[in-house]
Amino acid sequence: MLKEFYRLTRNALFAVSPEEAHELSLRALEYGVYPRGRASDDRVLTQTVFGLEFNNPVGIAAGYDKDARVPDAILGMGCGFAEIGTITPHPQSGNPKPRVFRLIEDNALINRLGFNNGGHAAALGRLEARKNRGGIVGVNIGANKDSVDRAEDYVLGLLRFNSVASYFTVNISSPNTPGLRDLQAPAALEELLSRIMTARKRLIDDGAQRRPVVVKISPDIAADDIAAIVEKLVAYDVDAIAVSNTTLARDGLKSPHATEAGGLSGRPVFQRSTAMLARVYKLTEGRIPLIGIGGIDSGARALEKIEAGATLLQLYTGLVYEGPALIGEIKSHLTKTLHVGRQTSLAAIRGRHADYWAKQPL
Ligand code: FNR
Repeated sequence: MLKEFYRLTRNALFAVSPEEAHELSLRALEYGVYPRGRASDDRVLTQTVFGLEFNNPVGIAAGYDKDARVPDAILGMGCGFAEIGTITPHPQSGNPKPRVFRLIEDNALINRLGFNNGGHAAALGRLEARKNRGGIVGVNIGANKDSVDRAEDYVLGLLRFNSVASYFTVNISSPNTPGLRDLQAPAALEELLSRIMTARKRLIDDGAQRRPVVVKISPDIAADDIAAIVEKLVAYDVDAIAVSNTTLARDGLKSPHATEAGGLSGRPVFQRSTAMLARVYKLTEGRIPLIGIGGIDSGARALEKIEAGATLLQLYTGLVYEGPALIGEIKSHLTKTLHVGRQTSLAAIRGRHADYWAKQPL
């Protein structure tokens, strides 16, 4: 029923530009026009991850609600958590339009938005206003394009949002801010993590709450470089690793927009991001929770991410093509799989296909 309805809605949304459709969907959520998720999730989906209790593992990835306009609607649709951002210290308009493209034949998107967002102050105001509503709301932090000290932009994000963020995601993997992904290089990563973790320690010493720090990585890291990056993330005690952001790869696409510049998301990223996820899972020996992101557009693909090593999941492009019913569909599929296998938690199946996925090409 919900799926039928979305088919009609999708036709209308796809008749306007991707950015206009995105804005319309945000307004619908702001006005409360969205399908409500079930009041409670099956207990088998519950997990405590980096000290927070998640009712289910499904979240909407950063980039959908860049300015913290609708975190409560995202939770209301049945997500176990929401992530707002990427947010930069100063407002920024991003790249010239058009900068988001639908690759319909590929179930994919290409975006080169370039961190368009309203800046820290505006998002902070909104998050402070909803603070007492509860729910897990992560804040994804980034750096302004013209910043002279990018690491400082992340530190500022941490300091400013600590009282309202359930957790932080340090986004060093967007391909649309020139040079940003260079922060993943071991020396730069070391400096960044050292400054972020020092800032967090100071906050804690001053009596503030300790917020988990997640680092979001690119699926385009060369196979030989993954181990050194993961080693740094482990050494600095990050609370989780999010795998992955969008890719610059363009293998096997059919759509006429395939040659647009920017980050590719959706179904074509599934294989690469899941192979990367499994490699990180094996390198960390399952000791650090991983957020599996990239190309989840069905219950089966969500399950594969967990079997490749994910503890939590996030999706964005799948929602554009499948609509909000996808959230419930994933939860049902995971629940059914656990019940059929007589397992009582997602941990029982996590990583059981990691060996297979880690061998898949990036
Ligand atoms: C994104 N993504 C993203 N990620 C991030 O960390 N900060 C951001 O601001 C954005 N912005 C953004 C805009 C648009 C239009 C898209 C499609 C994506 C990346 C996103 O969070 C996710 O990592 C990838 O899209 C892969 O997941 P899906 O879309 O294949 O489920």
